[in-house]
Parts: sequence; structure tokens; C-alpha cells
Amino acid sequence: MRHFLEVDDLDAAELRRVLELAADNDPPAVLAGRGVALVFEKPSNRTRNSMEMAVFALGGHPVYIWPEELGLDTRESVEDVTHTLAGYHACVAARVFDHAVLERMAALDVVPVVNLLSDAGHPMQALADVLTLADEFGDLAGRIVAFVGDGNNVFRSLALAVGLLGAELRFAGPADYRLSDSDRDRLAAVGTLISEHDRALDAVDGADAVYTDVWTSMGQEAEVDRRNLAFEAFRVDEALMDAAAPHAVFLHCLPAHRGQEVTGEVMDGPASRVWPQAANRMHAARGLLAWLLGEGVES
Ligand code: CP
Repeated sequence: MRHFLEVDDLDAAELRRVLELAADNDPPAVLAGRGVALVFEKPSNRTRNSMEMAVFALGGHPVYIWPEELGLDTRESVEDVTHTLAGYHACVAARVFDHAVLERMAALDVVPVVNLLSDAGHPMQALADVLTLADEFGDLAGRIVAFVGDGNNVFRSLALAVGLLGAELRFAGPADYRLSDSDRDRLAAVGTLISEHDRALDAVDGADAVYTDVWTSMGQEAEVDRRNLAFEAFRVDEALMDAAAPHAVFLHCLPAHRGQEVTGEVMDGPASRVWPQAANRMHAARGLLAWLLGEGVES
């Protein structure tokens, strides 16, 4: 049984196949007559809607479950919840605070488990990100992706996906908000070529894509003042975009805070691909589920 808790649960060939399936306008009905449980411990716009529509497109029925209904480890253990959902659904997909919850679900091996965002990673977002880059540039080998801001869950998953597809990743952010040594080891294992920079300009210089995310993620609200100070020099504005390649695109996983991590001019400007990127969440989800519940079952 395969699970998708992080991008490197796929090898490079499998990731490319998922992207091919994402581009398939006539998707296989791998979910005909079956359900997918969508468990959310945090709010969502893109992830919930893209997953629901992807399940629908594959012939299945999505069931959205708010955490109070389940009471993970309060009303019932994570394991008992997962066993129960496995009796109704072809897949359990969950957005959780603690990545260990997903690992406990997957360890049972009773149903494929998909990470819809945890403190560790956001692999479904990364699939949409590389799909958007591939729509723009085709083969990503040799392309340069610059990430400016917080070395967070979105960044970690993006870095794995970009590395698997042969692109170079450059990171710029404050010293206290970078990758851990174990993150670096994990990126090295998939061959990600990454450099870390103190100045945003050095990371963005000549890049094909510039990516940022919010400075304060869900669950970090108590740190907002400290973070706003730390990230002030890492705002993506038009001057920074001018340092990128002339054809460079701007990406953001959303939601965005105009005037903080990105200016409105960039967010709504000609280089921005944030709306196709958001729409690609649905196509990427469809591709991943088609692979995981079709071809991935057999491999
Ligand atoms: N990018 C993303 O995961 O958006 P949501 O939090 O709205 O799902």
C-alpha cells in the first residue's frame, strides 16, 4: 500500500507520471462508487475545494470532516478513527497540526493516507507548484527556482519536488528560519541542488521563478511581531522581480498578505501565476489520486 505524506514518497519517474495524469482531461474513474475522507484540523480554501473536485472528477464521493466530529485522540484514538474510515473510504486525506498523526494513520496500512498539510510538509501544494512551472517552462531540468521567506513546510515540499525534477533551488531568508540539517540531508537524498542566501537579491538573480509564502503560518500567530521584524528584508517587490530573468514568473501558495511578503504590484502583476497555480491544485490532486489509487496500488 502506498501513502503520500511527502513528495519523496514518489521517485522522479512516479512524480513525472503524476504530473502526466494531472494533465489528463479524461481521467480514469478510479474512485467510481468509492469515497475519500477529507479530515481538516485547520481551515482551508484551496485544499478542500481542489480535493473535493478531484475526487468528483475521478467518479468518487468526498466526505469533509471537521476535527470536532472526530475528536482525534480525545473522543477516539487516531488509529481507531483511521480503521473506521478505512471501512468506508478508498483513501483518507488529512490536514493536521502534527505530522506524527499522519504517520500513525499510515503505519496501520489499512487505507492509503494523503498529507493535506502538516507542520512538516505540504506535498499536495508542491505538486501544483511544479505543475505550474512545467506549464510555463516544460522540462524543469536546469531551471532556477528562488524561494524568498520562511523555510517552512511549503518550502520543504517544494524543494523536494523541484529537486526531483532537476531544477536548482535558491533560498533566501533570515538565519533563524532556514532548513534543519535533517531537511538538508533529505533534499540531498533526492538530488536537490540548493543554495542558501542572506540577501533576497542573491537568490533571485537570474531566476526563472520567484516563490514566497506568508511570514506567519497557521498556528504561529503568537510569533507574528517577531516574524514581521525578521522577514522585513525578504518582501517580494517589483525591484526584486527585476533581478530575476526577464521571463520570470511569481508564485505564491496562498493565502497571500499583500504589503507583507509580497507587494500588490507583484501579486497582481504580469509575472504573477498565482491563479493558474491555485487552479492547478485541483489538477494535481486528480493526478495524485489517480496514480495512488490506480497505478500506485499495483507498484
Ligand atoms: N495553499 C493552501 O493550502 O491553501 P488553503 O490553506 O486555502 O487550503
